[in-house]
Amino acid sequence: MKKVGLLHGGGDAPGLNAVTRAIVHKADSLDFEVIGIKDGWAGLLGSKTLPLTKDVVKDIHKMGGTIIGTSRTNPYKKEGGEEKVLKNFEALELDGLIAAGGEDTLGVANKLYQKGLKVVGVPKTIDNDLSCTDQTFGFDTAVTIATEAIDRLHTTAESHHRCMVVEVMGRHAGWITLESGMAGGAHIILIPEVPFDLDEVCEIVLKRKDDPGYTLIAASEGARFKIEGKESDEILQTQQLDEFGHVRLGGIGKALEKLIEKKTGVETRSAVLGHLQRGGSPTAFDRNLGTKLGVKAVELVAEGQFGQMASLYNGQITSVPLSAAVGQLKTVSEELYETAKLFFG
Ligand code: F6P
Repeated sequence: MKKVGLLHGGGDAPGLNAVTRAIVHKADSLDFEVIGIKDGWAGLLGSKTLPLTKDVVKDIHKMGGTIIGTSRTNPYKKEGGEEKVLKNFEALELDGLIAAGGEDTLGVANKLYQKGLKVVGVPKTIDNDLSCTDQTFGFDTAVTIATEAIDRLHTTAESHHRCMVVEVMGRHAGWITLESGMAGGAHIILIPEVPFDLDEVCEIVLKRKDDPGYTLIAASEGARFKIEGKESDEILQTQQLDEFGHVRLGGIGKALEKLIEKKTGVETRSAVLGHLQRGGSPTAFDRNLGTKLGVKAVELVAEGQFGQMASLYNGQITSVPLSAAVGQLKTVSEELYETAKLFFG
């Protein structure tokens, strides 16, 4: 019987378990066995595995997280990491590997593919910032959760006549903030793609001070502002970098809270949504997108189309080269931000 390995890397995203379940069912229909590799690339550096059968994956599509675990381990930051991964792939007698992840995990997959690894990708990130995809699974759930939070924050902000800043995830791209901010009727939306002028933000807060008496601001964790003409850096929780060289963002909400209150005199509070946006059950859309991508990934393995990524692209479930998907981040366009701006103030 042929064997396919499956690993999940990077931050978890609602829909990952639907991918796993779909892969097991599709593989079973083609007489493939599925070996779950635990905790992303870390599992393939050390051969930590979990056999996945239909029994093991029964009904998991409704669950958040991932039953095989994930990590931000980068084999290229480990001594002999590349060789170990290639060797363990052989030792496990795999006929193919499916790697579900974002730019980092799939970037590693693409490098290993160049070295001969039989790998296909599945796009996964709540940030929705992978190229050659219309949408990644996990994003719809994150937007739904953030929208509900914004709806709730409106009522408390209005009751207290406050300005409320909600800090939303999305490291280098403002997709979650933009979509939840529009859906939730935020009065200002701040995203990493467009550094904002603090004076303009304060002008809106002051304009709304007496009528209707409150302001709700949705700010991406990676948003940057201009103060007295100078662009700020991103606000960090810590200077420490992860194995892919990423900083840990966080604190824009608190920073804005202080600056806005000081400049306008309007009482201001901030709320950080953080990992609540990633945890828990996926929406129906993310369950089904994960399912379709999982099925497509197995088809790619069975057809020997390695170096490809299953993708929802131009409305179709199709495949794109891994190299194209990880080449550059997909960010919010100026045009879309202009649409959102129509509702500012
Ligand atoms: O990549 C998804 C994401 O949730 C980003 O939006 C966020 O910046 C980051 O992961 C947080 O990472 P961690 O879970 O390692 O704190």
